[in-house]
Amino acid sequence: MKLRKISVLGGQDKDSNPENIRRVDIRPGEVVAVVGPTGSGKTQLISDIEQYTDGQPPARRTILINDLEPGSDAPNKNLRHLMAEVSQKMNFVIDSSVEAFLRKHARVRGIEDIEQIVTAVFELTNELAGEPISLTDNLTLLSGGQARALMVADVALISNAPVVLIDEIENAGIDRLKALKILKGQGKIVLVVTHDLTLTLMADRRIVMKNGGMCKLHRLTREEMRIANELIAIEADISKLRDLVRSGDSIEQSKNNKEKRVLWQEFCSTAHLTSAGL
Ligand SMILES: Nc1ncnc2c1ncn2[C@@H]1O[C@H](COP(=O)(O)OP(=O)(O)OP(=O)(O)O)[C@@H](O)[C@H]1O
Ligand SMILES: [Mg+2]
Repeated sequence: MKLRKISVLGGQDKDSNPENIRRVDIRPGEVVAVVGPTGSGKTQLISDIEQYTDGQPPARRTILINDLEPGSDAPNKNLRHLMAEVSQKMNFVIDSSVEAFLRKHARVRGIEDIEQIVTAVFELTNELAGEPISLTDNLTLLSGGQARALMVADVALISNAPVVLIDEIENAGIDRLKALKILKGQGKIVLVVTHDLTLTLMADRRIVMKNGGMCKLHRLTREEMRIANELIAIEADISKLRDLVRSGDSIEQSKNNKEKRVLWQEFCSTAHLTSAGL
């Protein structure tokens, strides 16, 4: 079955009031951010989509695939292949090496050139993760960030799931903007739960959660797009400084004082906006 659309039909918030947003249609190639304060129901929304919920509590939403209800036969049969999730509590429990896991997954997915795909996933993982992994590493020994980098690379290159659900990629210590760009470029539906301002502004639309309900649906404006590009440039500068500090160097020589002051002011305002959580 070719996925044309996923729809979320609104249910109820934590006080059992109907959600403001009654319907959200999402098509392939679109990235939708899910934002809102801690405890506002972001993970619940993602898991309702993943579970293909049909009016179940607590939020009583209904998910339609190509306008078909969960009860219909056709999508149910293919459901397992539609969704891939990179969750908030991602950790591998399988006692196996990275290489054995990737080979097995590639085989299950019917990929022909297993050598090539394993190398590609491995290289992408190390582009996304700070501290590189090796193919012989045991999955259970990967750090949280390394595990999530591996999952993103696996989802992008091996799993052919057209829907990717990501819960809080920013805390995982991986290159989140690059990860989102890669997934976005593949024509997948991407839903990304985030507290991060720049990541939010990379999404075409955002669902704002409040008290367990979808309270607002906002489309990115041109001006926001411009601000996003500025933020990305500032972040690139900050990231260079961060790398210097992490590798034990001083940042004093890297910028003159004036530049540093401007950078610092910009960083503070970004950090402030970010922690405000939109
Ligand atoms: N519509 C709802 N009705 C009743 N309970 C809800 C509803 N939505 C979410 N909840 C419950 O509220 C709690 C917090 O929700 P959730 O974990 O989704 O928050 P979150 O926005 O992901 O928070 P965080 O940013 O801390 O991860 C959960 O126990 C969840 O099941
Ligand atoms: Mg959550």
